[in-house]
This record gives sequence, C-alpha cells and structure tokens, in this order.
Amino acid sequence: MNNAFIKVHCPATVANMVCGFDILGFALESPNDIMHVRLIDEPTIIIQNLDDYGLPTEPEKNVAGVVFKEIMQHEGNAFGFEVMIQKSIKPGSGLGSSAASAAGAAVAANHLLNHKFSKDELIQFAMFGEKLACGVKHADNITPCIMGGVTLVRSIHPLDIVRLNAPEMYVAVVHPQIEVKTSDARQILRKEVQLKDAIRQWGNIAGLVAGLEQGNYDLISRSLEDVIVEPVRSMLIPGFEAVKQKSKEAGALGGGISGSGPSLFMLCKEKNTAIEVEGAMKEVFIQLGIEYKSYVSKLSQQGVTCTES
Ligand code: HSE
Repeated sequence: MNNAFIKVHCPATVANMVCGFDILGFALESPNDIMHVRLIDEPTIIIQNLDDYGLPTEPEKNVAGVVFKEIMQHEGNAFGFEVMIQKSIKPGSGLGSSAASAAGAAVAANHLLNHKFSKDELIQFAMFGEKLACGVKHADNITPCIMGGVTLVRSIHPLDIVRLNAPEMYVAVVHPQIEVKTSDARQILRKEVQLKDAIRQWGNIAGLVAGLEQGNYDLISRSLEDVIVEPVRSMLIPGFEAVKQKSKEAGALGGGISGSGPSLFMLCKEKNTAIEVEGAMKEVFIQLGIEYKSYVSKLSQQGVTCTES
C-alpha cells in the first residue's frame, strides 16, 4: 500500500443560487480548504486540525471523519485514513464549509483508492457529512464542490445530477460576522407553498437554467428571484435589502443569500463589476457597524483537486 500523503484543494460553494433551494449550486475559485490525506494500514481514522476553528477530531463527530468511515465500511474496514485539515472556509459562513470537508474526504479517498468510485457514489458518501453537519442529506453544495461549475440536483432519491453549462461569471461575496445556523434557517421555512408562488419560482428556475445554458446574461439576471425562501430567511440578515439594492446599482446581475447564510453573493458579468459590487456590499456592513469578510472570485470549473504532496 502507498502510504504517502496527497494534498487536496476543496473549493467554497454557493448553494441555492437564489431560486433553486436545495437543487442549484456553483463552485468558487477561492476560498479553498486544504486537506492532507493518506491511507494507513490500521482500520482507524486519525484527524488533526491545522486551523483555529476547534472542530471535533473524533471521527464520528467530524464531517470528513464520517465520510471516511462510510468508505472504510464499504470496503470491509481493510485500511484507515489519516487527515490534516486546514480550513479557510469558515464553518457556518454559508459558503459550503461542511461540504468542502465532506467532498474533500470523498474525492481524496477515491484518489487514494485508484478512482474506483463514480461521481454519484462520491456524492452519496459525501452526503453523510452534510447529514452530520445540518441533520439533512442535501447535495447542492457537495455536487459543485465535487464536479466544479454550476450543478443541478434534479433528484436525491434516486440521485440524478446535471452539470450545467454557464457563461464566464464572477461573484462578489460578503460574509457578515453573525451566526445563522443552517438547522435554524431550515426550521423557520414555511412547509407549504402557494401555487402562485410555486409557478413564479419554477419559471425563475427554468429561466435561470436556460439563461446559463444559452449564456444569456439578461435572462440570468431576470431569473435571480426567490419568492419562497428568501422572504423568510432574509429577516435573519441585517442589511439584506440594502445589499441587494446597492449591488444592483453597482452593476450586479443579481444574487441573494449564499446557502443558508449569513453570506450574501452577487453574480457579475465582469471582474471589475464584481470588485465594485464587493465595495458596495462592504459599505452596507460598515454603516451597520457589523464586522465582515469579503471575496471576489471567478466561478470555478473545477471541483476538489488532489495532487501528490
Ligand atoms: N440548500 C441548503 C439550505 C444549503 O439552503 O438550507 C445549506 O448549506
């Protein structure tokens, strides 16, 4: 058995993409988590954190740990994994931090096991990490994290994944330093939807997918509207309406809450516009006296990548 470490880059992701709750998502070029992973002979999991987030290192409480555990069980516990994790995607940011760890673990294991699993199998394994992190199996962060680009989860049972074509786009992200737990942000959602809202929402989802496939920025922009989830969740994020309005004025195509928040994202056609939009978003939180982090990134065509370290 080759017991050398590999280095794994795990990208941040934006889930929902405004109107596609739990089904649409895309990968960013930055920020990225880094993991170093190797196979070990003993059927055990050793986890070391190289960052200051204080995440649990017990395998059954760690998002990467539970994914490694599933893969080991699947393979008859014939080996184990050692992993060192350096997170840059802050847990609870809404930028797919748990998905980065879960997808990173699945892709790293697959690399070390000579690519024996399909993409669908990797997504299935990685969903155990999301279940640990927020109590529900969802794949809208994991899928773009593994596959890169913009992805559609048409169905989880059975798994049916579509990688979408998309024109070149940049994203401005602002992460106000407030806490919004994914479990709470899911709990507050209405369980029933009015038919008129459903019609508007599926028009937007279809419009967004068509706009992406056709490279039609105007259609993308018109379709970035959410009449179901955003009206409820936006109440958890101070400055939300101001961010949207000022970003549009600065030239953004549109955007909204990244995953379950609190990060907000805005899609832009060009990098310079995204930098302007980032400035407009930052200004809102400066005025509110709320600390923030911000990023400008291109949408990434690549998901998790492994290199020999
Ligand atoms: N689609 C999920 C949600 C993403 O919005 O709750 C959470 O990471």
